[in-house]
Amino acid sequence: MIEHVPSGTRAESLVVVSNRLPYNLPHAPGSRPPRRNVGGLVNALEPALAQYGGAWIGWDGNPLPSGAAVAEALARPLVFRTRSRVELHGVPLSEREVSLYYHGFSNRALWPLFHDFPGKVAFSPEEWSVYERVNRRFAEAVALRTGPGCRVWVHDFHLMLVPRLLRELGFRGPLNFFLHVPFPAPEIFRALPWRSEVLEGLLGCDGVSFHVGQYRDNFVGSARQLSGARSVGFGPEGSVMLRHRTGETAVSAVPIGIDVEDFERIARKPEVEARARRIRDCLGGCRMLFSADRLDYTKGIEERLAILERFFETNPDAVGRVVLVQVVVPSRHQVEEYRMLKREIDRKVGRINGLLGREGWMPVHYRYRALDREELVAHYRAADVLLVTPLRDGMNLVASEFAASRVDGHGALVVSEFAGIAERSPGALLVNPYDVDGCASEVRRALEMDPEEQRTRMAQLRERVRANPLRRWVERCLESGRRDSPRGSVRTDAPGLALPDGCEPVA
Ligand code: G6P
Repeated sequence: MIEHVPSGTRAESLVVVSNRLPYNLPHAPGSRPPRRNVGGLVNALEPALAQYGGAWIGWDGNPLPSGAAVAEALARPLVFRTRSRVELHGVPLSEREVSLYYHGFSNRALWPLFHDFPGKVAFSPEEWSVYERVNRRFAEAVALRTGPGCRVWVHDFHLMLVPRLLRELGFRGPLNFFLHVPFPAPEIFRALPWRSEVLEGLLGCDGVSFHVGQYRDNFVGSARQLSGARSVGFGPEGSVMLRHRTGETAVSAVPIGIDVEDFERIARKPEVEARARRIRDCLGGCRMLFSADRLDYTKGIEERLAILERFFETNPDAVGRVVLVQVVVPSRHQVEEYRMLKREIDRKVGRINGLLGREGWMPVHYRYRALDREELVAHYRAADVLLVTPLRDGMNLVASEFAASRVDGHGALVVSEFAGIAERSPGALLVNPYDVDGCASEVRRALEMDPEEQRTRMAQLRERVRANPLRRWVERCLESGRRDSPRGSVRTDAPGLALPDGCEPVA
């Protein structure tokens, strides 16, 4: 799957930087074989980078016992190459760094803050200082491996200081950032004690991109209010140009897409169709609701179980005739919050099945593991209704994958209005996941939707997904902030583009 190559052998043109690599790298002979990582970021970037060629720099996935072990690993960097010729450069981290930078500051402070869960946020100066230190290590790793002609693309909330640090280390090339999670409203973001450092970090870029206009506007608002940046017009890809202390940054909304062709190809495989039929057969003629989420409180899994319970209460005729197949992909089990969530989900699934289940019928079919792509697509093809009901989600690619997989044109989609994908789902039934009754009745509506309406809605969804393939997302993100772009110069007129609140173009 991946092979070892001597380090420093190529001058790559695109260097992607993210907390995780697509695989946890083996770090010693006899260590565990590479394990694929989960999450939207890895799924999106792997095919993108395979298409462009280049290098990917990220944590190697092996917490080392001490700082000395890290220093040793830094002195002898390992580089691997994937089957698709992407070079993977591992950044070593100690157990303590993983605990404070990743489980701590990234997942206990930034994740809840950026997903509008201020009540779950825990700030710790110690975690912040390790976050800074690890960001510096990433920046140094990038600086070592980039030459003239390289374009650097940094990803996600774990590495928001890297752009500025990279500039301080002398990198002058094109530099972009993409945030895969929401950017919160300025009133929420300002609670972060290190808000200026984070803004300064990101403003080291030529281009910073978000999934949707709301997150872009939140960032522009925060940069204006908290770091004195000014909006001075429009750049490429509908971006807002921010002028700040150290230069200019294009801030854009570029929704991520998926590898549509790959999902369609898999969905058409006879063995996947056969697998979808077997999944249906196992349900004994019941209608199938389907959900697939990484284990996370933002995904609204507990709330979905409450919706299901209400659905059966209000639709007793559905008892014995409808099931929910719920896939939960294990994640972040070292964070207590996630362990508690897992226990709660187990308990609630047990309660619903215990209360309502009867001989030959269980309302919830619960799988606590990742499905490989073919298995996932077979589930998409088998489902009557896909439920995507997060409380907050940067985008959510499950909805797009479902639409791409429904080459038969059937299937209904229920989507939370708090997911970025909501504004890109013209054929979906939009719901507020906190409104249990409203959701339960939309589930019924989705199940009862007549085939003609289903076909029309699915056609709209499929058209939207196909119009935004992954490669387009990559091109658009990298175009944003390009200094040599023919459209790269700042325009102060932009018909049809709304400026974020309080921004005015410079005449
Ligand atoms: C989200 C984040 C990614 C992250 C993924 C999985 O999609 O935006 O950056 O990789 O969750 O989370 P984990 O903590 O396992 O990397």
